[in-house]
Amino acid sequence: MKGKKILLGITGGIAAYKIAFLIRLLKKEEAEVKCIMTPASCDFISPLTIATLSENPVYIDFWNQKDGQWTNHVELGMWPDVFLIAPLTANTLAKLATGYCDNLLTATYLSAKCPLLIAPAMDLDMYAHPTTTNNLNLLASYGVQILPAESGFLASGLIGKGRMTEPEDIVVTLNNFFMLKNSMLGKKVLITAGPTHEHIDPVRFIGNHSTGKMGYAIAEEFLNRGAEVLLISGPTNLTLLHPKLQINKIISANEMLSVVQNNWLSYEIGVFCAAVADYRPIVQEVRKIKKNDEELTITLIKNPDILAWAGEKKKENQFLLGFALETNNAIDYAEKKIINKNLDAIVVNSLENEGAGFGYDTNKISIISKKKQITDFPIKQKKELASDIVNYISKSFIKK
Ligand code: C5P
Repeated sequence: MKGKKILLGITGGIAAYKIAFLIRLLKKEEAEVKCIMTPASCDFISPLTIATLSENPVYIDFWNQKDGQWTNHVELGMWPDVFLIAPLTANTLAKLATGYCDNLLTATYLSAKCPLLIAPAMDLDMYAHPTTTNNLNLLASYGVQILPAESGFLASGLIGKGRMTEPEDIVVTLNNFFMLKNSMLGKKVLITAGPTHEHIDPVRFIGNHSTGKMGYAIAEEFLNRGAEVLLISGPTNLTLLHPKLQINKIISANEMLSVVQNNWLSYEIGVFCAAVADYRPIVQEVRKIKKNDEELTITLIKNPDILAWAGEKKKENQFLLGFALETNNAIDYAEKKIINKNLDAIVVNSLENEGAGFGYDTNKISIISKKKQITDFPIKQKKELASDIVNYISKSFIKK
């Protein structure tokens, strides 16, 4: 962690006393540490202790009452490589989840551009409350990495889940974070995402419920690890900005195919998440179809299979991952797709699982390899699954 800039947010829970030890560990690793404390946290640990150990001034207020100097939360938010909030109380968690910024720490959260890690700590009933669960899930859906609370003795005298992850474990997580950060440096990844719209006439189309969330989350995960990404996206409401991201927005399957054909051979990894329409109207009317007859027949013609094209052209040094969404016999169909489309692996999501698939923030997936090895994952936030999928690809790609 030598030279890494860590902004440490401390909130008002009893676990704040452990932060002195955490800062010692981070300094031993030669990280640079700056701390923001909420006013409530100063009752649990003295700012003097934190300033001395971190070897930096501690930031608490928006402005210093003595000399009138203003603390620039925007600059503070731009400074770190990572922002860690530990311990995170239920109160500050709720503020982060709603964008409430009544102190320097919460305002800096909204300004910060770097990845955020949080280590919640609270009494067991507060931790188990659905409000807390929802707030944590919401932050996870924004890409915040959560270091879940652990079980054990709590300051209230009760025993249960709510203890902050131990400082040594936080250091391990941070070390992993920095290791992964550049693990995909120099890799070129092509991703298809979202639905395609197939025009019937100037105002109507055939489409599907895909929102693109899974594909965008995978793109973001690759970017966070240093990869260069070409995201070929059908119509979605999502936005993603990154210096190493090139987004190519298309509407129809044929448009998606042509972008893939122009690029695939100069990429090493292909992740095909798009829910491509299988058929398109054979004729796309130039004028709006009038409602005259009782029945209207639209003849459809099969769309090109973009993934199958990429599989056919695939070279030895390329890794190709497809997706399969099935309502029944998911594993059987997926195994056939691996062969028919010449894939290295396939992600199967079955609509049989509640909370999985189109529009949800969560998904339940299994990944099947070319050798028919199945890896099952529990139901998770799509952002967390994106990280699992990228881990899987990086392991398999190295083996290849
Ligand atoms: O055959 P099926 O449509 O179930 O295959 C799904 C996989 O194939 C997904 O990875 C999807 O992105 C891709 N696909 C494609 N072009 C199509 C149809 C599906 O790239 N026309």
